[in-house]
Amino acid sequence: MKIGTVEIEKGILLAPMEDITDVSFRLVCRELGADLVYTEFVNAEGIVRKNAKTHKKLEICEEERPVGIQIYGGELKSMIGAAEIAASYNPDLLDINAGCWVKNVVGNGAGAALLKEPEKMEVLIREIVDTIKIPVTVKTRIGWDERNINIIEIAQRLEDAGIAALTVHCRTRTQGHNGDADWSWIDKIKQRVKIPIILNGSVFAAHDVQRAFSETGADAVMVARGAIGHPWIFTEAKELLQTGKISTVIDIEKRISTCLRHLKLAVGVKGERRAVIEHRKFYSGYMKGMRNISSVRSALMKAENYDQAVDMLRRYQEDPEAFITHKPLEESELLYNGNCL
Ligand SMILES: Cc1cc2nc3c(=O)[nH]c(=O)nc-3n(C[C@H](O)[C@H](O)[C@H](O)COP(=O)(O)O)c2cc1C
Repeated sequence: MKIGTVEIEKGILLAPMEDITDVSFRLVCRELGADLVYTEFVNAEGIVRKNAKTHKKLEICEEERPVGIQIYGGELKSMIGAAEIAASYNPDLLDINAGCWVKNVVGNGAGAALLKEPEKMEVLIREIVDTIKIPVTVKTRIGWDERNINIIEIAQRLEDAGIAALTVHCRTRTQGHNGDADWSWIDKIKQRVKIPIILNGSVFAAHDVQRAFSETGADAVMVARGAIGHPWIFTEAKELLQTGKISTVIDIEKRISTCLRHLKLAVGVKGERRAVIEHRKFYSGYMKGMRNISSVRSALMKAENYDQAVDMLRRYQEDPEAFITHKPLEESELLYNGNCL
């Protein structure tokens, strides 16, 4: 698959995810095998109004390339202005969000609302493609609801508008993030357009990546929730595709080191206090399946600086048995890689 200058075969991509895919997480995923990573969606109005917090989200670093910036908005003028500004941050590509389902996005004519107005979407995307020099891609869904699946028409219009690739989250807007993604649409789209098609939705483990490639003609597979707390999904999927088996063992040392590396990178990007607090959402994923972990996790929820987090995790690593609490196991601890222990 080639998107502009980005060339990847059987690419495994990290999806844009709000409050998740900041520089620190993108770097971790790149190090573990993601072929292309995306920023979270960035609001076009905030970009053109030069909101400092919004502009922070546009910052990328050299080590994470190739990287795409994703923007969203429903208003033509501000989207074009935002596209130009976002391109000046020099990403490898610019992605337009046409799939976000949440009410305040859709209510402003942005995200998945564009699926209801294919002509408007086409004009918007064509203008952006004609305005900026870097490749433009779009991430959308199969349709608004099950009675209004119009992804074929959308794909054809967007190909005409000049996009370099299309990511299809194989759910409808009304599904939100629930239910199974319907991958059968990928081949139907592939039969009608020539641009690369990236499959997204319900890719939670390395075997799903393998299945997505073997069951569909997708040019690349994009991982979203499957990477949160388990960024090794990229390493595992690559091993599986190349050798037919997963050899990497994700042991306690790997879990703790990666969790702390992610935190350290975040500290460098957003400052210690904010990074430590925001990292709380990742602990349960990184620590899934680890013995006697509940008291460690509770302590980490209260940690206020990086050293406290390191100390707690390293002490646990040295002697997990010292953390036995004799409390009944929580539901999340009864699960290991999706199997009940
Ligand atoms: C926490 C979270 C934040 C998300 N933020 C974005 C976003 O900023 N832009 C976007 O295009 N999709 C966003 N998504 C949707 C994902 O990129 C992806 O399309 C969706 O999770 C389906 O993939 P999955 O079933 O493999 O998780 C988000 C999803 C989650 C869970």
